[in-house]
Amino acid sequence: MPKKTQIAEVVVSRNRLKKRIKELARKISRDYKGKELVLIGILKGSVVFLADLLREINIPVEIDFIQVSSYGASKTSFGVIKIKKDIDLPIVGKHVLLVEDIIDHGYTMHYLLKSLKVKKPKSIRVCALLDKPARREVPVPLAYKGFEVPDKFVVGYGLDLAEKLRNLPYIANLSPA
Ligand code: IMP
Ligand code: MG
Repeated sequence: MPKKTQIAEVVVSRNRLKKRIKELARKISRDYKGKELVLIGILKGSVVFLADLLREINIPVEIDFIQVSSYGASKTSFGVIKIKKDIDLPIVGKHVLLVEDIIDHGYTMHYLLKSLKVKKPKSIRVCALLDKPARREVPVPLAYKGFEVPDKFVVGYGLDLAEKLRNLPYIANLSPA
């Protein structure tokens, strides 16, 4: 665990996360009532959000996971994103909601939407906990969004810094090294 001093400020507190996730789940439950819903979490960052969101959804729901190779911090084009772990459930004819921790440049979600549409779901939409619109390079339609965050690197609640800090129960940003 890095030193506590690395955490500069809490960006979204535990309480705000809890409250907002309840609101999102209520809306999702209403919108998908009577429909076959599959939540697909993007590994690994979405697991904490997905686990909390799932427990607040009060309609029948299935879950699955997908993982892509990250293209890192370089300016590499999204053409190089690859699926490392594909979904196991069939989604043909089902309503899919992709659950992501954060939409940054947008490449990852743009690629996933394109790849999963090939499997012929009845609908496919995106639910992102965080949106960092300042750095968007490709448009991503967000059906459900938790919070907008400024253009600073954030960690916690599933989001990592070199695989660490995912276990923080809130969203924080880091002080410069
Ligand atoms: P995009 O393709 O640029 O939208 O990248 C999305 C992915 O980059 C997310 O799924 C995160 O894993 C990662 N990412 C982007 N911004 C942050 C951040 O501020 N903290 C931690 N991970 C981030
Ligand atoms: Mg991610």
